[in-house]
Amino acid sequence: MIAGSLGAREIYAVDVHPDSVATAAAHYERIVGDRTDTVFRPLVSNLFEEFPDSARLDVITFNPPAVSARTSDDPTVVRNVCVGAEIVLRFFDQIVTRDLLAPEGEIHLIVSNTAELKRIVGHGIDAGFRPVVLHRQTWEGDNCQAYLFKLIRHDAA
Ligand SMILES: C[S@@+](CC[C@H](N)C(=O)[O-])C[C@H]1O[C@@H](n2cnc3c(N)ncnc32)[C@H](O)[C@@H]1O
Repeated sequence: MIAGSLGAREIYAVDVHPDSVATAAAHYERIVGDRTDTVFRPLVSNLFEEFPDSARLDVITFNPPAVSARTSDDPTVVRNVCVGAEIVLRFFDQIVTRDLLAPEGEIHLIVSNTAELKRIVGHGIDAGFRPVVLHRQTWEGDNCQAYLFKLIRHDAA
């Protein structure tokens, strides 16, 4: 919805969960509506598996279920919250192997210290990205620290 409001040329709204994609599409329709200059592509996909080979992305955002502690055995909770670091490692790997990020493109990733932060960021660096912390969020009386990272290609300006 934000990308649409800002006039993006093409938007992929992706989740592995069909109802979540349908909900995002309904909100997009309600809030942004039909824009002649924007193609909106709701897509049910395990990470980037269903993306066309031609996709080249300027901005990739991800709020992953990266919490390391298995807080529940309910598959819905696991999918939303606590798949673990592996999903973010696969996310970086697929961006590289599919060459998905445009040369000056940006990844915006939210992860907190409830996840294996060093492992995740270290893997991103090894995969060829340079991280910058755009925002750090804390809450009084809580040890949780959430980080919004921007990652760009090492070779980007
Ligand atoms: C923390 S929630 C974020 C929800 C929403 N996108 C947001 O930012 O508020 C994590 C989302 O990741 C999705 N997800 C989990 N595994 C996935 C996968 N392999 N591929 C794509 N999406 C996945 C879940 O279905 C869930 O909607």
